[in-house]
Amino acid sequence: MSEKPPYTSHFPVLEAPNVVPEKFKDTWEQGVNEWGGFMKQAVEGVAKMVASGLGLDENTFTDAGRYGSHLLAPTATDLVKYGKLNTIYAGFHTDLNFLTIHGQSRYPGLHIWARNSGKKIQVKIPPGCLLVQAGKQIEWLTGGLIKAGYHEVVCTQATMDTIARREIEFPQRPLIRISSTFFWHLTPDFNLCPIPALGDEAEKRFGKQEDYGEMLVGDQVRRELGLIALMAPS
Ligand SMILES: [Fe+2]
Repeated sequence: MSEKPPYTSHFPVLEAPNVVPEKFKDTWEQGVNEWGGFMKQAVEGVAKMVASGLGLDENTFTDAGRYGSHLLAPTATDLVKYGKLNTIYAGFHTDLNFLTIHGQSRYPGLHIWARNSGKKIQVKIPPGCLLVQAGKQIEWLTGGLIKAGYHEVVCTQATMDTIARREIEFPQRPLIRISSTFFWHLTPDFNLCPIPALGDEAEKRFGKQEDYGEMLVGDQVRRELGLIALMAPS
């Protein structure tokens, strides 16, 4: 869901082509582009509100992410195969991008950890609402004032109950958990370093913060992907 920059990027590898599943090739692109467009609009609205709330120009983050490698990434979990209690679908982690947005999944299972309590929270997204989570790029840019949120997706009792209910209510539907998550990124060529006023505020409120240093977003992404071994070493 990205926009091509008017300059030559240092990170062409991040401009990977879209994946279109063969079986859905006639309707896929239109469907995901429409949904992705709405999600992008919503998350950019949040990015503007966050900037404004932090006392910055409202376009600070959206300008920094104008040519970001934004990804709409639908993932599917086969609940016939993996519908056992406590099966981990996504282990405890934070996202490497700036903001992540998603709608309600048909099957519950997402847990988040809030900074102010340290307790695991079961996410229940009310109908018609979207959930936005902070990723590492916003943590870095705000010098730790906003921390990337830890989360995990597991098969819980609530997931099991939903499976049992849907087997009766929609016996013709496949038991597949779909999560269509939109990952909003900063521009790969943007230089990532804490905004001084925000870093100072983070220290004042939460004590000494880690030394974030300075790095191009594209290098940060490459480093993160290397750490989680999704990208072959070059
Ligand atoms: Fe995640």
